[in-house]
Amino acid sequence: MPAYAVIGGQWGDEGKGKIIDYLAGDVDGVVRYAGGNNAGHTVVNDKGTFQLHLVPSGICWPDVYGIIGNGVVVDPDVLVSELTEIASRGIDTSKLFISERAHVIMPYHIVLDRLEEESRGEGAIGTTGRGIGPAYMDKTGRMGIRVGDLLDWEALVPMVEQLLKHKNALITKIYGGEALIMDEVLAKCRRWAEQMAPYTKATEQLVQDLLAQGKKVLLEGAQGTLLDIDHGSYPYVTSSSPSIGGACTGLGLNPQAIKGVLGVFKAYSTRVGGGPMPSEITDEEAEEIRQKAQEFGVTTGRARRIGWFDGVAAKYSQLVNGFTGIVLTRLDILDEFDSVKVCIGYEVNGERLDRFPANTGLLARCEPIYEELSGWDKPTASATKLSELPKNALAYVKRIEELVGCKVQIISTGPRREETIQVEPVFT
Ligand code: IMP
Repeated sequence: MPAYAVIGGQWGDEGKGKIIDYLAGDVDGVVRYAGGNNAGHTVVNDKGTFQLHLVPSGICWPDVYGIIGNGVVVDPDVLVSELTEIASRGIDTSKLFISERAHVIMPYHIVLDRLEEESRGEGAIGTTGRGIGPAYMDKTGRMGIRVGDLLDWEALVPMVEQLLKHKNALITKIYGGEALIMDEVLAKCRRWAEQMAPYTKATEQLVQDLLAQGKKVLLEGAQGTLLDIDHGSYPYVTSSSPSIGGACTGLGLNPQAIKGVLGVFKAYSTRVGGGPMPSEITDEEAEEIRQKAQEFGVTTGRARRIGWFDGVAAKYSQLVNGFTGIVLTRLDILDEFDSVKVCIGYEVNGERLDRFPANTGLLARCEPIYEELSGWDKPTASATKLSELPKNALAYVKRIEELVGCKVQIISTGPRREETIQVEPVFT
């Protein structure tokens, strides 16, 4: 009854969507456990290009369950429009289910996300503005609305009335914003109730049933470990747990069910939004990578910040998640460089630091110590076998394995499903 997790090893946008779509052909369910429509997963296959925000990335495989677990926060409008768009392109969405325990992103969460960001001024986190933080705040503050609550109208109305009064006071009195109208919010909830009803389920049971039948399940991470609310570069993080612990709490899954933990790493680093990034580069090479790789956010369109592979951060990510294998993506983007750098340590106040510090100020002062490796003379783009990779590209892969302390199992050499090198089997 094995479950395998696919987790972002960096600051998100590592290419998890492509890898999940690639692996999903061999599994029975793909289950999302954290985040919301702040995520943007791009899937390119024979059915076209799909930009998914909430729907699990295995959706293009007709026999695979797509499950949105309790740890996800859901904007029903986004989910419905995503499902409508996917269905209009001939994809079967009848095996998509959503946890009755998943929290709903309410209209006031989106308003508050913007107002809170504005009030942070220079210290803005650079959120995606999708209401993610405020929705998780209400979840832990025990004042959230869950998908299952939408289906109990009698109980829902007084809950929404009370919450909206409280939120409107915050919006108007603290932030000077405009109050939301009760009838409009309630009308939205009424519509959502109808739209969500066919998909709503006790998904923890569904996942357990699949596993009990000996079926394979992929646990789909969103964002990345360095954006984790507990383990990331706080406070410049998202409000959920993208790392392995989140997979258990975000699904109601016991850890013994998890047989493999795949860490997805890009061959270089990117980050969207504010916060320290020790191996960031802002020169021509950064722009070359950004343009070649089209490093612009799927959700917000923002230019992503670029950096060399950060071995210190990656090692920390391995410590938090206990990866059993690495997926290395976008190796092809480095194809034309004469040399490539990897960060192997930090220097701060004249001293070497070999760990990823918790203190944001300290992290911001960390200067990268680089090791320079020779580039490769032959492209890796679209390669499907390890033997097709030039010697120096293999040396680069090996160095990343050493830095993370874990074997590479898959190398991605392009956005398409088939542009993939299966170095060793993932499902054992
Ligand atoms: P939030 O998740 O919208 O609250 O944003 C918090 C931080 O996480 C911001 O820096 C965002 O840019 C970042 N973030 C959230 N989702 C993603 C993602 O899917 N990829 C990359 N960065 C993300």
